[in-house]
Amino acid sequence: MKALLFFLCLLFPFITASSVAYPSVLDCSLSDGGEGLQPLRRETYGSGRIFDISHRITSEMPAWESKDGLGQYLWLRASMKNGSIANFSEMKLPAHMGTHLDAPGHVFDHYFEAGFDVDTLDLEVLNGPALLVDVRRDKNITAEVMKSLHIPKGIRRVLFRTLNTDRRLMYKKEFDTSYVGFMKDGAQWLVDNTDIKLVGKLQELIICLLLPMTI
Ligand SMILES: *[C@@H]1O[C@H](CO)[C@@H](O)[C@H](O)[C@H]1NC(C)=O
Ligand SMILES: *[C@@H]1O[C@H](CO)[C@@H](O)[C@H](O)[C@H]1NC(C)=O
Ligand SMILES: *[C@@H]1O[C@H](CO)[C@@H](O)[C@H](O)[C@H]1NC(C)=O
Repeated sequence: MKALLFFLCLLFPFITASSVAYPSVLDCSLSDGGEGLQPLRRETYGSGRIFDISHRITSEMPAWESKDGLGQYLWLRASMKNGSIANFSEMKLPAHMGTHLDAPGHVFDHYFEAGFDVDTLDLEVLNGPALLVDVRRDKNITAEVMKSLHIPKGIRRVLFRTLNTDRRLMYKKEFDTSYVGFMKDGAQWLVDNTDIKLVGKLQELIICLLLPMTI
């Protein structure tokens, strides 16, 4: 098991959504818009202790069950170039897109009905050190695979690097149903045998919290 401890910060899942109309960080100390003004795109914060590892949203990225990828998701409705006081953009994209966090209500109707949206997730669980684990490439993430990893007690967050990373699935426009998945028995095994409360897969960076109730 190759493992690496690092910090994970996913408060803003769409923080890297970008296009030329959205410089992610502008240094306001610069005085004018003259030549040489360059947006600073920070990848690390706080002396490199927090890494933004979310995927950049692009029109070419895969969308659920779509052959054509995300497509256009950003429109400039009013532009300073056209005399508007500000650039005004509109964005439309599925919530289940790129780097994202699944709400408990995403696949369980009773949670949905009871109002378990992302706001109900515990930020203490979402933020902090996580263990990055390389999983075997020839299997989905099952109970057997989980058991073989011998993840120590006390670990609360894991990210799995899978075959999906090697296959660069997030860079393929056409949705591929053969992606490596975190199987139900794998999740149940973690709930029953470890202290893990948060699980993510690195390539898609889909983060799930293991619920105390039956999965
Ligand atoms: C405003 O929109 C124009 C396109 O009309 C673009 O060239 C320009 O970079 C945008 N400015 C900002 C501050 O986003
Ligand atoms: C600006 O105006 C021109 C001319 O009407 C139009 O072709 C262009 O699409 C407009 N651009 C934006 C961003 O509104
Ligand atoms: C994982 O399961 C999917 C079907 O759910 C399958 O298409 C894929 O080949 C499996 N991956 C591996 C590595 O066994």
